[in-house]
Amino acid sequence: MSSVQNVRFFSGENIPLEMHKVRVVQKLSLPPIERRLSAIREAGFNTFLLNTRDIYLDMLTDSGTNAMSDAQQGAMMQADDAYAGSQSFERMHAAVNEVFGKEYLLPAHQGRAAENIIAKSFIKPGNTIPMNYHFTTTLAHIDLNGGKIAELLYDDALRLHSDNPFKGNMDIAKLRATIAKEGAGNIGFIRMEASTNLIGGQPFSLANLKEVRKVADEYKLMLVLDASLIGENAFFIKQREAAYQKNSIGDILREMCAQADIVYFSARKVSSSRGGGICTNRKDLFDHMKVLVPVYEGFLTYGGISVREIESIAVGLRETLDENVIGQSPSFIDYLARQLDKAGVPVVMPPGGLGCHINAGEFLSHVPQEIYPAGALTAAFYIISGVRGMERGTMSSVRDENGNDVFADVELLRLAFPRRVFTLSQTKYVEDRLKWLYTKRDLIGGLRFVEEPPMLRFFMGRCEATSDWPEKLVQAFRADFGDSL
Ligand code: F0G
Repeated sequence: MSSVQNVRFFSGENIPLEMHKVRVVQKLSLPPIERRLSAIREAGFNTFLLNTRDIYLDMLTDSGTNAMSDAQQGAMMQADDAYAGSQSFERMHAAVNEVFGKEYLLPAHQGRAAENIIAKSFIKPGNTIPMNYHFTTTLAHIDLNGGKIAELLYDDALRLHSDNPFKGNMDIAKLRATIAKEGAGNIGFIRMEASTNLIGGQPFSLANLKEVRKVADEYKLMLVLDASLIGENAFFIKQREAAYQKNSIGDILREMCAQADIVYFSARKVSSSRGGGICTNRKDLFDHMKVLVPVYEGFLTYGGISVREIESIAVGLRETLDENVIGQSPSFIDYLARQLDKAGVPVVMPPGGLGCHINAGEFLSHVPQEIYPAGALTAAFYIISGVRGMERGTMSSVRDENGNDVFADVELLRLAFPRRVFTLSQTKYVEDRLKWLYTKRDLIGGLRFVEEPPMLRFFMGRCEATSDWPEKLVQAFRADFGDSL
């Protein structure tokens, strides 16, 4: 895949051409490397604790950071402020109806709030939730409600460099075996996550989702779809699944959602700064969940989202149907991943959604999982580039009941591409600095926790370096780049 809009270049290069122009900009600065070293130290080597003042490119996440369209901003000016019965909510409801094909909608202030309501409504202590793979906040809510997860990817999905186009698929034989082992009565629901976040934004195929649906029907189990990154998954289905190449993104989205009893999403991914929702065509499920919305979120017609954001979600959801919009971030990720791959930098292939994922386990093969290679690479990359990525490895995992680390299946540095935010020259800068860092990888050491919260520790935990490797890295940078920023 190259650019989304099928423009071929005379040079034969695959250049992801932007199908938008930029009219509102935010000034950036690149602090010198010595300041970056102090900043990451002050932040306990945790990029979540950095201030954007010290960041050049913020590639932490796409959540709440995608660029808004002029149509979204325009819609926000016409919001209907009301605690109850807001017409803005009616417009979001209509967009959900059109895009996801679901009749009933419950608003929530963001994706994890939707997860709270679903987990509280349908998980009993001791239940198992089979899923393709967990997301951090999903696991936390299942855990808090006494459930446990069964991750049922095909064995080869964790081979980071492969040509499997659908690593997010659920292994149907494993699903059947899990149901047989646990008993259908002990399964809260089956969960499928679109563009499976923690394994590198990897999609599932529609054929696979339909197989999962069949098994759910057989055992009368509910299928819940995490649609936070559904647009990207639909885009990959159109690109990679032969049966759907002629379908529109809209058709694919509705077909995906039609397989699920409940679809929930974080609306922070559709350029809104807040919001989420749960939708279904089943009135019984809607009625069962709706009592929790006023308790945790707010009244049923705003659910903790401001009316202006509700308007931007309504427009943003419809914009997801445009291939040039939904394909913008995947095509930049594709570009960067292929450039790095060509240069031998270990990167997740095929490229996925949300971000370019660097295989920290291989990049830092000399750093054992006990001292967090993905965390170390994330900190090292920030120091030498001013680019903030996110650790997606053992630090984002948990400890077992004996206090031992549960090593993550994959150790990744995620460099998110919020939609329509970064330019190609900024992408080239990231490529350049990663290539340089790869040549200096032996200098990088590990991290250890000095402050470790008991849950979702990656958000607020603080670490120190296991040696003076950060200083050595700065010296190597100065030796090669002189007084360059
Ligand atoms: N599910 C998935 C697949 C997600 O990627 C996210 C958020 C959530 C649920 C929770 O949504 O943040 O609105 O509460 N992912 C962001 C990320 C935070 O950076 O990966 P939320």
